Amino acid sequence: MFKDRKMYVNGRLVPWEKATVHLMSHSFCRGSGIFEVMRLHTTEKGRAVFRLDAHLARLKRTAFLLGMDLPMDDDGFTDAIFQTIRANEVENGYIKLICYYGEVAMHVMPNQEKMDTCIAVVNPEADMEEEKAAGDVPLSIALCKTRKLHPETIPVEAKAAANYLNGMLSRIEAAQKGADVGIMLDTQGFLTEGSTESIFIVKDGTLYTPAEGTVLKSISRKSVLELAPVLEIETVEKRLAPEILAEADEIFLSSTGGRVQPVGKVDSLVLPKSPGPVSKRLMEAFEAIYQDKDPRFTHWLFYVE
Ligand SMILES: Cc1ncc(COP(=O)(O)O)c(C=O)c1O
Repeated sequence: MFKDRKMYVNGRLVPWEKATVHLMSHSFCRGSGIFEVMRLHTTEKGRAVFRLDAHLARLKRTAFLLGMDLPMDDDGFTDAIFQTIRANEVENGYIKLICYYGEVAMHVMPNQEKMDTCIAVVNPEADMEEEKAAGDVPLSIALCKTRKLHPETIPVEAKAAANYLNGMLSRIEAAQKGADVGIMLDTQGFLTEGSTESIFIVKDGTLYTPAEGTVLKSISRKSVLELAPVLEIETVEKRLAPEILAEADEIFLSSTGGRVQPVGKVDSLVLPKSPGPVSKRLMEAFEAIYQDKDPRFTHWLFYVE
C-alpha cells in the first residue's frame, strides 16, 4: 500500500504523505517535471533494476533537450534509487523518478537553477486495483484522431510531464471507443505510438515498428529491437502507414509498466490468436531476462543489494 511507503525527496526518505510540493510550484503549474519509470525485479541474487544505465542516459538527454540542470550525476541518482528501494518492501514493480521545480514560480521561467528530485517505488498489483484486474488479457487498441505532438514543437523524445496531455487525450478517445489504448498518428498520418507504449507489428515473421523521430526513445522498444535479432527475428524500423494494422499477423505494445502486451483487437478487427508466436517468444525471453536466467543479458540488470 502506498501509505506504508517511503519516498526519496531531495536526499531524505520521507513518509508517502509527506512527499508534497506547493500548488504554485513551477512543475505543478507548468508541467515542467521530467521523469523516468524503471522496472524492479527480484531474482535469485536479489533485487535488480532493469537497464538503469539506459534510463539515466535518457533522463540526461531529456534535461539537455529542455535546457534543464539535473541536481546529480549518474552515481548520485543510482545511490538515491537504491536507497529508496532498500527503504521499501517491494519485490517487483517499478520505480518512478521525477526531477522537478518544486519552488513557487508565478512566471513561465522557474525560480531555481537545480531541479529537485523525488523517487517512489510502486507495486502495481498491490497499490493499484485496476492493474490487478487487467491481468494478462490481450489489449484492444483504437486509432485516434488526436495526433502525436509534432517534434518541431516540443521534443517528443523528452520524457516530460507536459508532453502527456497528448497521451491523455488519446487515452480518453480510446475509452470512448471502448478500447484500452489509443494509437496516435503523426501530423503526416503515419503510425507513432500509444499514450505510454510503443507499438510493434508482426507481418510474415518480420517485426515492424515506427522509426525514431516521432516517438519516445523507449527503453522497452530499444530492448525488443536488441533482443529480436538474438532470437533470429528480423526487425524493421520505418515510417508505417496505419493500414499495416489491418494486415498484421500479430500486434503488441511494449512499455516499462506493461512489458510486452499482446493486442487482440484493433478498432473492430479481432486478431484471433493473441499472443501470436512471435509475441509469445519475446514475452518469454523477457521474463527469463528479468529473472536473470539468460546469461546473454545479465548486463541489463543492476543489482541493489
Ligand atoms: C509515449 C511513450 N511511448 C513509449 C513508452 C514506453 O517507454 P519505456 O519502454 O521507456 O517505458 C512510454 C512510457 O511511458 C511513453 O510514455
